[in-house]
Amino acid sequence: MAGNRTFTMIKPDAVESGHIGAILEQITASGFRIVAMKLTQMTQSDAETFYAVHKERPFFGELVEFMTRGPIVAAILEKENAVEDFRTLIGATNPEDAAEGTIRKKYAKNVGENAVHGSDSDENAQIEGAFHFSGREKF
Ligand code: RTP
Ligand code: MG
Repeated sequence: MAGNRTFTMIKPDAVESGHIGAILEQITASGFRIVAMKLTQMTQSDAETFYAVHKERPFFGELVEFMTRGPIVAAILEKENAVEDFRTLIGATNPEDAAEGTIRKKYAKNVGENAVHGSDSDENAQIEGAFHFSGREKF
């Protein structure tokens, strides 16, 4: 079952721009079932932990500042082949490179403020989902 789940965040830029509803509609219309979901805000320590893999990258400070500046929608999603299919649905990190119709093509502002997060592996989907949700918040 682990292979059928991914984790997503609707990032602060997309929440600020009023795109929560449209993005959730596209996600559920694409066959993903919502297992867990909440509106929350990451602290600096949360964001530093969540994106620790990027801590040596030049954009790390900017990324942490961006991800903590306002609320996000965190969610665990279920679908066959969830991780790969969700990365296809959101499109490339840089919206200029994202395919037509993808969530990032439609709603991302630039490579930093790119509207949504999607886990990059089954292992990270599990870690990231557990970071945001307790067992009793998953359905
Ligand atoms: P994500 O983890 O958020 O789903 O994004 P991703 O896999 O497509 O991209 P990743 O390489 O993991 O980068 C994480 C996030 O860091 C910001 N970023 N900024 N200014 C830059 O050059 C730059 N590069 C990456 C983005 O918010 C990216 O999604
Ligand atoms: Mg990533």
